[in-house]
Amino acid sequence: MKILLFGRGGQVGWELQRSLGVLGELVALGHDPAHNPDQLCGDFSNLAGLADTVRRVKPDVIVNAAAHTAVDKAEAEPALARTLNALAPGVLATEAQRLGAWLLHYSTDYVFDGSGSQPWRETDATRPLSVYGRTKLEGEQLVAACPKHLIFRTSWVYAARGGNFAKTMLRLARERETLTVIDDQIGAPTSAELLADVTAHALVAAICQPKLAGLYHCVAGGETSWYDYARYVLTQAQALGWALKAGPAQVTPIATDRYPTPAQRPLNSRLDTSQLQAAFGLVLPHWQVQVARMLQEITGAK
Ligand SMILES: NC(=O)c1ccc[n+]([C@@H]2O[C@H](COP(=O)([O-])OP(=O)(O)OC[C@H]3O[C@@H](n4cnc5c(N)ncnc54)[C@H](OP(=O)(O)O)[C@@H]3O)[C@@H](O)[C@H]2O)c1
Repeated sequence: MKILLFGRGGQVGWELQRSLGVLGELVALGHDPAHNPDQLCGDFSNLAGLADTVRRVKPDVIVNAAAHTAVDKAEAEPALARTLNALAPGVLATEAQRLGAWLLHYSTDYVFDGSGSQPWRETDATRPLSVYGRTKLEGEQLVAACPKHLIFRTSWVYAARGGNFAKTMLRLARERETLTVIDDQIGAPTSAELLADVTAHALVAAICQPKLAGLYHCVAGGETSWYDYARYVLTQAQALGWALKAGPAQVTPIATDRYPTPAQRPLNSRLDTSQLQAAFGLVLPHWQVQVARMLQEITGAK
């Protein structure tokens, strides 16, 4: 089996290089052709180049971990966000369908408006609040045109490698005496490792059973606010011996409406994963288990 991976250097892309490597021949591309095998185009702003890449590689499976993920920046560059998050995945869908290949793609809780307090199901109505959310939703719709597709909506992604909220909290807690963190957005921090492992498992299952194609919510178990997440990270870090100026007691909660950002974020980012767990026979561990593991990993490296 030949697998073509886009976005190899991102949080999820990096972990996918590990988890997909055992499934077959992996061609992993970043966005700079100079560093890609055979100078293949992996740049999502070059739609003709992307189509050419798929035609040259002729993969059995395409996995797309590339995206415009800078949520606030996207408000100022909606055309670029749409190209990267919607049009480029659309090209991959067209090319995958032409080849009869599988296309696996990631989307986001930001397709929802964050109302209510129930976990969102795959069938719930979408209403994105931001450019990022709107372009990711359009990307989902274009990817779904490829019959053999898997789309995983996820949330609050982190990894030992790359920039994310947990690592920002650790940096700030070493620099400052106090931190202020939003306490009314609720979701599940989800590790890139978990997404990569689920991806590999789901691909194998879907190849054997094509009726598994579809859209699934894929996040770690449990739920939390950014505020409680930050406090958990700092508590664990102190236990691991990190010298912090601000510990968990020095974190102050703040409401979203008191912390304006260019992009509006959903308050309720809970995603119901029962469909994914039932379809693929998977268990999604509690978010704290893998955050603790990531902290141990970066502690060893610091
Ligand atoms: N991060 C989150 O909290 C979160 C939450 C929900 C859903 N998701 C979704 O999960 C998926 C993976 O996210 P992630 O956290 O791994 O993102 P990430 O760490 O920000 O990585 C994004 C990747 O996209 C690549 N990229 C950016 N511009 C590109 C371009 N013009 N052409 C080709 N590649 C380009 C980046 O490459 P360079 O590094 O070379 O620029 C990077 O490899 C995305 O679909 C994202 O929308 C993420």
